[in-house]
Formats: sequence, structure tokens, C-alpha cells
Amino acid sequence: MQEEKLELLFIRAKLLELSSEEQALIKNAKDSLNSAYAPYSGFLVGASILLDNGEVINGSNQENVAYPSGLCAERVALFYAGARFPDAKIKTIAVSVMSKNFKVTDVISPCGACRQVMAEYEDKQEQAIKVILHSPTDQVLIANTVESLLPFMFKSPLLKQH
Ligand code: THU
Repeated sequence: MQEEKLELLFIRAKLLELSSEEQALIKNAKDSLNSAYAPYSGFLVGASILLDNGEVINGSNQENVAYPSGLCAERVALFYAGARFPDAKIKTIAVSVMSKNFKVTDVISPCGACRQVMAEYEDKQEQAIKVILHSPTDQVLIANTVESLLPFMFKSPLLKQH
């Protein structure tokens, strides 16, 4: 994606400009890389969620030899947060990444399925979720809402007859 189009969705930031809460969440996402199970891709992703009750939920990608059975770090963390604290609101999700095979020089962008899941939680809680992407080179991109990342999404009312 061209830089100027990317910046319509995300704001580039410097790590040290972020609040201490956000920097701590990024560190959690980075630490979560250690629990990634990615023997097939060698691509490690960590996700850390801050809830409005102060709890932090961490996740990492979990792969499987039957490839589609694996799950991205973001959804591991999102579903665990939903299962453990169903009434809490998600304030922020931070995502960090690294590869065992090459040097990752910029952030990665969450896949469509993860955006769909984030967007539904955002809709359900009627409060924006901030998405912070982080690279091993300390590049940071911030999206203030998930809605901006997934316009015209499939929403639950579309499932009902009207
Ligand atoms: N992956 C994530 O965990 N999050 C993303 O946003 C993109 C991709 C994982 C899935 C798979 O385990 C590996 O990265 C390579 O696609």
C-alpha cells in the first residue's frame, strides 16, 4: 500500500511519544512472541489487549499442521478476552511481530478475519478500539478505530430478515 493511503487509516507514531500504558501494552505484545507456536511459517505474532477493567489479555499465533486450523494472535487474544471478561470493553489492542527467517522492518497489518472479529467487538461495546501495530524496529502505526480498517463490514443486523 502506498504510504499516503496507509496514513489515511493509520497514524505513524514514535514509541516514546505513546503513553506509558500504551508502551507497556506494546511490551506485553512483544513478550507474547515467546509463546507463539509457528513451526510452519516461522512468523511470530503477539497481541495484547487492554480492557476497561484494567486487565491485560495476551495472545500469540497458534499454528497447526492442518493449516486452516491455526489461529492468528489477535483472535486468540480477542476470543480469550471475550470468554474471560464478557462484559468488559476493549480499549486497545497492540500487535507485535517478528520472523525467525528474515528481518521484519515494518509493522504488519491484521488480516481480514481478525479485523472482522475486532470490528464486531467494537460494534457490540459501542466504543472505539484503538489498534497499535509494532515492528521489531520500533515502527508504530496507530488506528483509532477498527471501523476505519473495515468499512462496509458485515454486521449482525444484516443477518436478520427486514
Ligand atoms: N498472523 C497473525 O497471527 N496475525 C496477523 O495479523 C497476520 C498473520 C499469523 C498467522 C500465521 O500463524 C502466521 O502469522 C503467518 O501468516
